[in-house]
Amino acid sequence: MKITVIGSGYVGLVAGTCFAEIGHDVVCVDNDPRKIEALKQGQVPIYEPGLDALVKKNHETGRLNFTADLADALNGAHAAFIAVGTPPRPTDGHADMKYVYAVAREISEKATGDLVVVNKSTVPVGTGDEVEQILLKAHRPFKLAVVSNPEFLREGVAIDDFMRPDRVVIGSENDWAKKIVSAIYEVDGLAGANIVHTSRRSAELIKYAANAFLAMKITFINEIADLCEAVGGDIRHVANGVGLDSRIGSKFLNAGPGYGGSCFPKDTLALSKTARDHRVQLRTIETVIQVNDNRKRAMALRVLDACGGSVHGKTIAVLGLAFKADTDDMRDSPAIPVIQALQDFGATVRAYDPEAMENAAKIFHDVTFCEDAFSASNGADAVIVLTEWDQFKTIDLKQLKKQVAAPLVIDLRNVMPEDAVVAAGFEYWCIGRTGSTTSLQHSIAAE
Ligand code: UDX
Repeated sequence: MKITVIGSGYVGLVAGTCFAEIGHDVVCVDNDPRKIEALKQGQVPIYEPGLDALVKKNHETGRLNFTADLADALNGAHAAFIAVGTPPRPTDGHADMKYVYAVAREISEKATGDLVVVNKSTVPVGTGDEVEQILLKAHRPFKLAVVSNPEFLREGVAIDDFMRPDRVVIGSENDWAKKIVSAIYEVDGLAGANIVHTSRRSAELIKYAANAFLAMKITFINEIADLCEAVGGDIRHVANGVGLDSRIGSKFLNAGPGYGGSCFPKDTLALSKTARDHRVQLRTIETVIQVNDNRKRAMALRVLDACGGSVHGKTIAVLGLAFKADTDDMRDSPAIPVIQALQDFGATVRAYDPEAMENAAKIFHDVTFCEDAFSASNGADAVIVLTEWDQFKTIDLKQLKKQVAAPLVIDLRNVMPEDAVVAAGFEYWCIGRTGSTTSLQHSIAAE
């Protein structure tokens, strides 16, 4: 199949590259000519494990190409995937659809023959109808149809998620369009993919409902973690015992500083707004949003407690800035409110992240970015783990101890080996269980 992917950001680039990998002829389009030139030279503008090699390999075979010229890319295409951003509008939190609609208008002008337009961007229910109206208004002398095919890629493991999907959702009422999109996914490379056929509106809802449910699961376990601290439980054991129930499942039960990233915060907000516009109140999701927002700043209060009630004039080492491991993405990272609050309380912050420092430097002022975790911990009164990078789990604790001014580790991801940390002479604070040398009761009371 010949496929055009419009938008060479995170979703478009991963999807386009993987479509090429499973045998399709793909042209990725972006309106930023510098990005296109860089991609042609094999420079991938985002950090995603394995993506560089896959882009290079498929570009070399000729199955993956890049252009800034949409008309050229649409020539002879069977399907055009829209994968442009839908950021929240600053005024009201609704997903901003201007990029999607602009692309739809451009497709309606530049398509040259029968074409299935597939929406991969995360869009509010009913967007497919709007896009279809835009296409039909152009009165082109060939078939144009719109399908919803949401993506479920997690940053850091996106290629694996694409190649081994739990499900592929295809939302369309049009048999011809449905057949074309099904054929794109029914190939050997994706053998066994569970294809779910549904209406376009249901497909649009599946994406939001799935993300909202996962956000709710994380928020739930975070609150149970608070309760564990209050009553003397251990969240790791509680999560394990709960998750072994196959009706619940063990994934997304890691307690931490609150969810972030490019999807959960934006999608939960957009879903609750859409629901209200239809006179439905999603109380659970609205509460999830509020609890998660509060949690991030509350994490800074925990640091205060661990530091004896104040961080004024103290140096805090922050290990990990990205919203999760294996990405350079800082969007809605818990590190942002935590660091800002610590600075508000008078702390000096030194930070290290293996991939996200360039993006973090655009956000933070007065943070000293360091070349590794040891340098960040130099002279620190406390070391906070904010992202669960593997290298922090196995850090040389003896060397770390030599760097710090005070031996205090606050592990907001529960990834450090507690016994070894304590054996190395650190006081250890964590999430959802009483740390080895101190209690978190104060911080819960403060929240
Ligand atoms: C998410 C969805 O998983 C994916 O299907 C969708 O298409 C895009 O949004 P992503 O944002 O890449 O993917 O990250 P994910 O791994 O889902 O994590 C989201 C946030 O939840 C992160 O801040 C992460 O640290 C947090 N999280 C996740 C937890 O706090 N605990 C968990 O157990 C899991």
